[in-house]
Amino acid sequence: MLVTKCVSTNLKGHLTIGGADAIELAEEFGTPLYVYSENKIRQKIREFVLSMNKYYNGNGLVCYASKAFSCKEMYRICMQENIGVDVVSGGELYTALSVGFPAEKIVFHGNNKTPEELSAAVESGVGRIVVDNITELKMLDEIAASEGKTAGIMLRIKPGIDAHTHDFIKTGQIDSKFGFALETGEAMEAVKAALGMKNLKLRGLHSHIGSQIFDVDPFCLAAKVMLEFYRDIKAETGVELEELNLGGGFGIKYLRSDAHEAYGEYMKQVSAVVHSFSHELGIKTPFILIEPGRSIVGVAGATLYTVGSVKKIPGVRTYVSVDGGMTDNPRYALYKSDYEVVCANRAEEDRTEIVTVAGKCCESGDLIQENTKIQPVKPGDILTVLSTGAYNYSMASNYNRIPRPAVVMVKDGEARVAVKRETYDQISQNDI
Ligand code: LLP
Repeated sequence: MLVTKCVSTNLKGHLTIGGADAIELAEEFGTPLYVYSENKIRQKIREFVLSMNKYYNGNGLVCYASKAFSCKEMYRICMQENIGVDVVSGGELYTALSVGFPAEKIVFHGNNKTPEELSAAVESGVGRIVVDNITELKMLDEIAASEGKTAGIMLRIKPGIDAHTHDFIKTGQIDSKFGFALETGEAMEAVKAALGMKNLKLRGLHSHIGSQIFDVDPFCLAAKVMLEFYRDIKAETGVELEELNLGGGFGIKYLRSDAHEAYGEYMKQVSAVVHSFSHELGIKTPFILIEPGRSIVGVAGATLYTVGSVKKIPGVRTYVSVDGGMTDNPRYALYKSDYEVVCANRAEEDRTEIVTVAGKCCESGDLIQENTKIQPVKPGDILTVLSTGAYNYSMASNYNRIPRPAVVMVKDGEARVAVKRETYDQISQNDI
């Protein structure tokens, strides 16, 4: 049993991803290699859309948080699935627009957007710019005026919810660089300021409490807190906001021991809370946006590596070094994230060795996993790290001038390159 259903094994005893033989992929495209199952990505998107339709009468929009994995092909898939996307920089916006993504369905985030980024958003007609602070609010109003346009905005609110996740990836509490605080009155001030701006249309508010969260309760609590604020806004200003953006953050299964993903349950419970609470508070039931990132692409991706040296240090540990590392997957170095590791060419053998999988960077902390149980491996074997689809390619770097791996999409066993492997020429092309 492997942690994700988009991998399996074939008659040769090789691991398959999205129906393609991992060893053949490694031979054809080289390693390290990011491999995605396109069907899995589409299935995850459809699960969110279906649950929005089933539990919230379709009165909402699923927006894929593209920071989890951003490339042209991913925006094309979202476009074909008819969902929205969340972008968080000029670069993500540019990439989405470059494949013809409808601007009205783009949500633009960021706690310190530049004037250039805001101008690009207004000019291209981005549907919802999520304003983070007063400086940005004023700047955006001026930019919209100079473009002769009205910009659709939401305000990012810190609902004061402390979600149980890694310190670096929680965001809803008051001590956070993102958004306006409710407790201090800052959020109400911002709403009033936004309502008074001639060139901005306040569509609603946004909250995001963190990432890799399994518990549904903090999401329900955040929805309640936000709706109470909608009631207060109505009481103080007479304005009823139309939309509520509840962010993303749904946990995924990295290990078999992790909890089950319950996205249907999330929409079911949150929808019930929003319906009953808005009724109770005497406010309109809002149109809802959600922004899943990790939960759409995480388990759909895997990374293939070739094993180089296997170094046994008696009484200490065994290092299995691979041809990638923190450059293509910085998440263990950053958050000590768990992953399941499988030897793709020995996928059906028993996992009897406890090893540390190390990268090739000049850095002791360049590890992909410690104390992980895998099949006995030799130099030349292909290791697969599962569920690397979110925040691996998108957080990859060129540390040690290591080129970023290629990304391959597999659909019904057929593989195609979605992002080419970087070359040395490309990583040095801006050097003077
Ligand atoms: N919406 C907003 C406003 C966000 O800030 C994020 C993630 C999401 C949606 C999507 O969250 P997701 O559904 O993917 O959990 N680099 C970290 C994750 C940082 C998440 C940042 N914001 C990691 O590798 O775990």
